[in-house]
Amino acid sequence: MIKKLKITKSSWKLKLIFQDDKKIENLLEEKNQITEDLNSKTLYLFAGKKNIYSLKIAKNFLKIAISNRRNSIIDLETFESNKVKLVDIVKASVRINYDRKDLQFSLKSKTKKSKTTKVWFKSKEINSIFEEEVVKGEISLEVRKWQMSPPNILNSEVFAKEVKESFNGIENVKVTVLNRKQIEKRNMGLLIGVNSGSNCEARVVIVEYKGNPESKQKTALVGKGIIFDSGGYSLKPAKFSLGMKFDMSGAAVAAGAVKAIAKLESKSNFTAVLSITDNLIGHKAITTDVVLKAMNGKTVEINNTDAEGRLVMADANVLATEELNATRVVNIATLTGAMLAALGHTYTGVWATDDKDWKQIKNAGKKADELLWRMPIHEDFAKFIKGSEIADLRNTDYSGNAGSSSAFQFLTQFVNPKKSSHVHFDIAGTSEISMLAKSPLIRTLVELSKEIK
Ligand code: BES
Ligand code: MG
Ligand code: ZN
Repeated sequence: MIKKLKITKSSWKLKLIFQDDKKIENLLEEKNQITEDLNSKTLYLFAGKKNIYSLKIAKNFLKIAISNRRNSIIDLETFESNKVKLVDIVKASVRINYDRKDLQFSLKSKTKKSKTTKVWFKSKEINSIFEEEVVKGEISLEVRKWQMSPPNILNSEVFAKEVKESFNGIENVKVTVLNRKQIEKRNMGLLIGVNSGSNCEARVVIVEYKGNPESKQKTALVGKGIIFDSGGYSLKPAKFSLGMKFDMSGAAVAAGAVKAIAKLESKSNFTAVLSITDNLIGHKAITTDVVLKAMNGKTVEINNTDAEGRLVMADANVLATEELNATRVVNIATLTGAMLAALGHTYTGVWATDDKDWKQIKNAGKKADELLWRMPIHEDFAKFIKGSEIADLRNTDYSGNAGSSSAFQFLTQFVNPKKSSHVHFDIAGTSEISMLAKSPLIRTLVELSKEIK
């Protein structure tokens, strides 16, 4: 939905024009205005003074150019300046294109056909960068489609099937889908517990990409795949359950990231582990006070059925380290409402047990232009969840403080530190804004895959 096209004599083009450029007749010299020049078949977008022009300002003009409804080819080279590099303009144009609202998945009975954005730049060296951005953009749309899909359509079984099919034909990838029996056989009692109120079976999807067979390093992206989070018997009030279809965003992002990494033939080993079920009530659903046993044998007293994400993630973390031999476990989850309170829709919160991991992730985030904020790790945040009278752990900290960090403490009890480092991304604030999907972290994780072997 974005194409690089040559500008010919017959094609209309859109150019950015600065106040100090050679004057064009009848030019509308007001910022953001477009002047149509019939003779040269050119749309001139007026940009004001060049001396204050920056990449940030350039992005705004790109937004105007891309949303312009007239059929033209955007001449990206006119967006370049001595301060703003063409490569950044090319990247930004693809990213802005795929963020268009009209590309979001919709079930409206009348939808307009979306327009293809046409751009032009000469440089051949930048072609591969352009194409890489397109790969990530197209995958983002697929991830957002999964995120947007309502829970009555994309249930756990359908989601798992669609993820598997999505990897058809991609090289060096093996996809395994575990059904209920196979999950039970592995003693994943926390996932089975959360699934017990559902009409649909839980699924665990494992996607293994081997881009560097010689290396023992393996990064496992473990995604939270809650199809709909009603809260269970610790039921959410009506308004708080709106948008809980997005509670599978972590799983969608983990799958999408590995797909992008595989398609771009990264020389590293990445695996996605998706833990998929909904969290509902019913005569078979778990209540509070029940005790469940995880895949690693640890027992958990459930004191809030709405803290279900950490349960399904915990078993998947054990599977990633013990069965798949991951050396770095990366959790991606819409885990806590407290994350929204702390960082809003602006930053993704990151926990990392290893400073080296954080350094690489920080660099990757910068390159990907995604905002990340490192959160603190401290034993204090584990005190309450370790205080059960009957089990090894409780699943919820009722102190009312630092809820996102106690959730991390729970998750990290299921990653063996002798085998693997642990990273956790809480995307509760960044996966969805105003009921529109955002597919965060795909670009960051692709950048990360370039930093490691
Ligand atoms: N899926 C929610 C977290 C969430 C809340 C994501 C709002 C996006 C927006 C999670 O399963 C949940 O319910 N968490 C509880 C934890 C609590 C019971 C300790 C929460 O945040 O209230
Ligand atoms: Mg919940
Ligand atoms: Zn949830």
